[in-house]
Amino acid sequence: MSGIQPGRRYFAAYNHKGNDSHLSCNLSRVAPVLSRSVHSGTRPTSTAASKLKFDRQLTSEDIYTREDKYGAHIYHPLPVALERGKGIYVWDVDGNRYYDFLSAYSAVNQGHCHPKIIAALNAQASKLTLTSRAFYNNVLGAYEEYVTGLFGYDKVLPMNTGVEGGETACKLARKWAYTVKGVPKNQAKIVFADGNFWGRTMAAISSSTDPSSYEGFGPFMQGFEIIPYNNIPELEKALQDPNVAAFMVEPIQGEAGVVVPDKGYLTAVRELRTKYNVLWIDDEVQTGLARTGRRLAVDHEEVRPDIVVLGKALSGGVYPVSAVLCDDEIMLTIKPGEHGSTYGGNPVACEVAMAALEVLEEEKLAENSQKMGELLRSELSKLPKDIVTTVRGKGLLNAVVIKETKNYNAWEVCLRLRDNCWPSPHTGTSSAWPPPLIIKEDEIHECIDIIQRTILSF
Ligand SMILES: Cc1ncc(COP(=O)(O)O)c(C=O)c1O
Repeated sequence: MSGIQPGRRYFAAYNHKGNDSHLSCNLSRVAPVLSRSVHSGTRPTSTAASKLKFDRQLTSEDIYTREDKYGAHIYHPLPVALERGKGIYVWDVDGNRYYDFLSAYSAVNQGHCHPKIIAALNAQASKLTLTSRAFYNNVLGAYEEYVTGLFGYDKVLPMNTGVEGGETACKLARKWAYTVKGVPKNQAKIVFADGNFWGRTMAAISSSTDPSSYEGFGPFMQGFEIIPYNNIPELEKALQDPNVAAFMVEPIQGEAGVVVPDKGYLTAVRELRTKYNVLWIDDEVQTGLARTGRRLAVDHEEVRPDIVVLGKALSGGVYPVSAVLCDDEIMLTIKPGEHGSTYGGNPVACEVAMAALEVLEEEKLAENSQKMGELLRSELSKLPKDIVTTVRGKGLLNAVVIKETKNYNAWEVCLRLRDNCWPSPHTGTSSAWPPPLIIKEDEIHECIDIIQRTILSF
């Protein structure tokens, strides 16, 4: 076991869980010090002692300790203290450069600090940042027109985080069930798949099958039902209940370890949705926006959900922006005053989202994701099978399963990848490795070399 223990001060775990069993491979150090950075030390503090802390350059250890002391212990970050990002790279406070093979859980699909997105952010931020929805602004409508046109839905409801998008979709489905489908008051049900992850609010954890998400937080939301993922007969059984408003599902389960359903699953979901008049809520917060090699993951089967939830890469990682898309029959069931958000649809978010979507289209990131994903999986499949037992995914949303032995566990693999050059799967079973979608062929090969060297060192 290395001297570094799994603990609360380590860099982000892929599945947002606070346990040690699913940390993923995040960052790949690829080059020695390029430019050593200095902490600016400008933040005001109330005591001389704490001021001192900000006036000198903090070491990585200082940074871990400070977060540990003052922050809630809700993550187990890998011990890397980052201060800069550009494209597919991030740099730590010691100037080491890493490949980012986490992309902030697929939020940074366009690469860190994409110049077009940052320019949009800066331009709007110095003009008008927030009006609230109590007034019109001159940007929201342009964004609404653009995003609905791009995805082919009548309307969009702008929110901030992915989980708010999921909450919004559930509220829309319930309202539609009562006002359109005719479900009796307070009887509406929403069906979810086992292994789902859509955030940490009370509704999200009420539909979770992961004890680390829900244990200790009851009582839970009523009207939620869980069925197995990738199981059409069970779905059909559940949808026969006339009180079911919706089936909410990820086209590929990201946080569950990149679980790809059988070919034809999404088509069958679409058919059952029509047969039983139940809304299909497509959670594309992680799989959407070119991550899996298509604009949306459902595009692999060319099927159209009723409600699409987007988040993460909708801003390229620079701002919290999420969106719910659907047609009028559903969207107009919610009336003024029944839903909203102070920041949702603010001018900065709208400009940033338009720029982020334009980058995906202009730089053909879905095509690149598809091509680079095939290359990455084919190269990862060449790794020794007794260590890397499975490689799975679509586009650049991929995971590997690393077999643990008595000589090493996944946390050590994770740390050695960090030290040696590549990222970090600390996993019980699987590790997801999603790089920014702008990654090129030679960079994929370099990453593979790094991974190979590290894995073989065990
Ligand atoms: C599929 C999916 N939906 C929703 C969410 C929640 O997004 P956020 O963390 O922005 O609330 C996540 C987060 O990882 C996710 O993977």
